[in-house]
Amino acid sequence: MKRTSLISELREIIAQEKGRGRQIALVPTMGYLHRGHLSLIEQAKQTGAFIVLSIFVNPLQFGPNEDYSRYPRDLERDARLVEEAGVDALFHPTTEEMYPRPMVTYVEVGQLDSMLCGANRPGHFRGVATVVSKLFHIVQPDLAFFGQKDYQQYLIIQRMVSDLNLPVKVCPVSIVREEDGLALSSRNVFLTPEQRMEAVILSKSLNEAERLIQAGGQSTREIEKLLRERITRESQGVIDYVEVRDAEDLSEVTDIIRPVVMALAVRFGSTRLIDNKVVEV
Ligand code: PAJ
Repeated sequence: MKRTSLISELREIIAQEKGRGRQIALVPTMGYLHRGHLSLIEQAKQTGAFIVLSIFVNPLQFGPNEDYSRYPRDLERDARLVEEAGVDALFHPTTEEMYPRPMVTYVEVGQLDSMLCGANRPGHFRGVATVVSKLFHIVQPDLAFFGQKDYQQYLIIQRMVSDLNLPVKVCPVSIVREEDGLALSSRNVFLTPEQRMEAVILSKSLNEAERLIQAGGQSTREIEKLLRERITRESQGVIDYVEVRDAEDLSEVTDIIRPVVMALAVRFGSTRLIDNKVVEV
């Protein structure tokens, strides 16, 4: 596996592979890798492309009171994992390499970035869209892999690519979960044993709500109410939002007649967890 923290070096590696006619697949991450990230790599491997995995904890997407400084990091462990998983090149730039000067240019995906996670984290998706756009320009991938765990992020990247005619195919990957249903996240390490147990209510209530939707006759309001009640009754989690939205554009819906996404964000102590489920009807 090739490994570099320099944009210039990465560009040379990629130019060589492109010269050989190889397709390039990008898997962007913030590191502290788990099976969710590995599943993105597995999907990328199936395309036969040359796989570039980036690890960069992007300060631009963290608010002033968020967990940028305590975000978990372990580059050497990550490097071993991705090498075993068959990544071809690991790109782990420093903050200075990515942002040598204060940024004055940003990518904003309007509408989609101010609801759900965007409402409680102003500027977050601008930071995500901007860094992903930079990574797309650095790597110039044919394919890029994003997990549906961050469903809103996936839709925002897809929309950015479409609005700006970026020549990259965005490939979604299903959520990877623990055996008891908790969606894997780098932030799960911050949960106390008690919070870890309680956090199961997120996926449990989503599954229950899915069954209700499929049985028919439920409005989005009723489903949201049920999710809220279940979460507050069975855990000490504090709800940021619980929303049932159109699965394609996150617009508000009343009656469930098209695919919807049930999306939620809940704080357990200072750890904010997100989860979602798409329901086809
Ligand atoms: P990070 O949280 O490290 O996630 C990197 C990628 O892994 C994202 O596409 C995310 O959706 C996916 N992922 C995380 N947990 C997953 C799970 N349990 N199942 C499936 N996929 C999962 O998302 C980011 O980093 C950043 O915002 C980034 C896109 C790298 C931009 O900085």
